[in-house]
Amino acid sequence: MHFSDLREFLEAVDRIGELKTVCDADPLRDIGPITEILAWSPEHPMVLFDRIPGVAAGMRVAVHAGDSYRRMQLIYGFPDGMRGKQLVNWWKARLDNYAPIPPEVVSTGAVMDNVLEGDAVDLCMFPAPLWHAEDAAPYLATGGASVLRDPDTGRLNIGCYRGMVYDRDTLGHHLAGGHDGQVIRDKYFERGQDCPIAVSLGNDPAFTIAAAENLRYAQTELDFGGFLRGAPFQVINGPLTGLPFPATAEAVLEGAIVHPDREPRRTEGPWGEGLGYYAAGFPQPPLKVRAIYFRDNPIVLGDPTLRFKNRGAAGGFATTARRWHMLEQSGLQGIQGIGQVGPFMVISIKQHYAGHAMRVADYAMTGLADRPPRYLVLVDEDIDPSSRDQVLWAINTRVDPAAQIHVERDRWCNAINPAGLTPEKRSIEDYTLATVIVDACKPFRLRHLWDKMFKKSDIDEALRQRTAEKWESVLGEWITAPKPV
Ligand SMILES: Cc1cc2nc3c(=O)[nH]c(=O)nc-3n(C[C@H](O)[C@H](O)[C@H](O)COP(=O)(O)O)c2cc1C
Repeated sequence: MHFSDLREFLEAVDRIGELKTVCDADPLRDIGPITEILAWSPEHPMVLFDRIPGVAAGMRVAVHAGDSYRRMQLIYGFPDGMRGKQLVNWWKARLDNYAPIPPEVVSTGAVMDNVLEGDAVDLCMFPAPLWHAEDAAPYLATGGASVLRDPDTGRLNIGCYRGMVYDRDTLGHHLAGGHDGQVIRDKYFERGQDCPIAVSLGNDPAFTIAAAENLRYAQTELDFGGFLRGAPFQVINGPLTGLPFPATAEAVLEGAIVHPDREPRRTEGPWGEGLGYYAAGFPQPPLKVRAIYFRDNPIVLGDPTLRFKNRGAAGGFATTARRWHMLEQSGLQGIQGIGQVGPFMVISIKQHYAGHAMRVADYAMTGLADRPPRYLVLVDEDIDPSSRDQVLWAINTRVDPAAQIHVERDRWCNAINPAGLTPEKRSIEDYTLATVIVDACKPFRLRHLWDKMFKKSDIDEALRQRTAEKWESVLGEWITAPKPV
């Protein structure tokens, strides 16, 4: 199913009974805490904040667009009841048959209903919540998407980057080191130019999901978003920058990230990060907004980073499927599954030759178009990579730490990870850390010996069944209980 805009999506969410409207919530005191506390329940409603104090009537904020099984189903269109590995396989099969759907350029759209330019630009007209109590300032852009164009290749790039409000026309935009957005921005700076940018503040959730996907560099998020929703995005080429943005976006900021020679970098943050800590501020070149386009009664889409997120029944399935798809596209065989919690990744493989497991690790450590995992655990095909108990059992019983734990130094890392990031490293924007590969597979060279020397001692299925049948009348459900997984 595809939605022409955020409003149509909200209507669909309302129809399935998952929309709550909250009136009179203060953007500096209420919206952030409500958003965070709701996220503690793995499946929680989408919320539309209306009648927000301090801004004009009609200005709204929506949060938790994709944080339930059924809302993810609205966005991705997977069959009813599909869960876990089945869901991952379903999306992976679609990615294996990826066919880009390029956008359609249209001359205008609802987002151009209201235009503010030059001195009339005022970011403070929008509701910008203080998402975490000790954020440096309200953040306006959290769930939108920013469009940039590579000056070398002309390739379009879209990313979801947060934006802190400095004043009426200036945002602190966080383009993290190593993301395509940062590389593109700095290419303009190397030429002595400002970096043109268009920031959408609210849109069909597929646009933000596409922006936040870590695609291969040659892939364009707009085409990927079209593939995800099964229909092209309709885009307008911005009057000032020529950069495309959705014709039905709620609001769009057009402008440029200013070259540091013309305007000094400013501190963006502190900001409450997804790893559960406030990251100290980052020096960022400011984004000057030269025009604002917005619909009547615009809705800002909020998606602040929160420690407890994506834990519902569909949480993380698309990322897992993409990583699996990319590993296979690289030509590697034997991948049985992937599990992941934040920067901790587990890959299950059927080893076919000596060195196979570490070859998979080398490829996975390139990050699969993202930062490498901090911890990568390789397990054999009998271990479910999404089962914490099974993975820990494999680490406990199949790893000789002296031979099977590999530390790799100076790897590209998330700047928000506090481990090992000293003040000195931060001051020179060096966000590298070590990563660890735990090869918890049975060593391939011992494969003939291993199962003879260490045969699994759990009873087999036939004996379990015979025992259950014979003793059920005495021991009831205690004896018919399924084997733990
Ligand atoms: C809610 C949300 C907030 C994000 N915030 C940022 C951010 O502030 N800065 C950033 O560089 N990446 C952020 N990301 C991750 C990027 O959007 C994502 O990695 C994207 O693929 C980067 O695109 P790029 O490599 O094309 O620049 C965020 C992702 C999500 C889902």
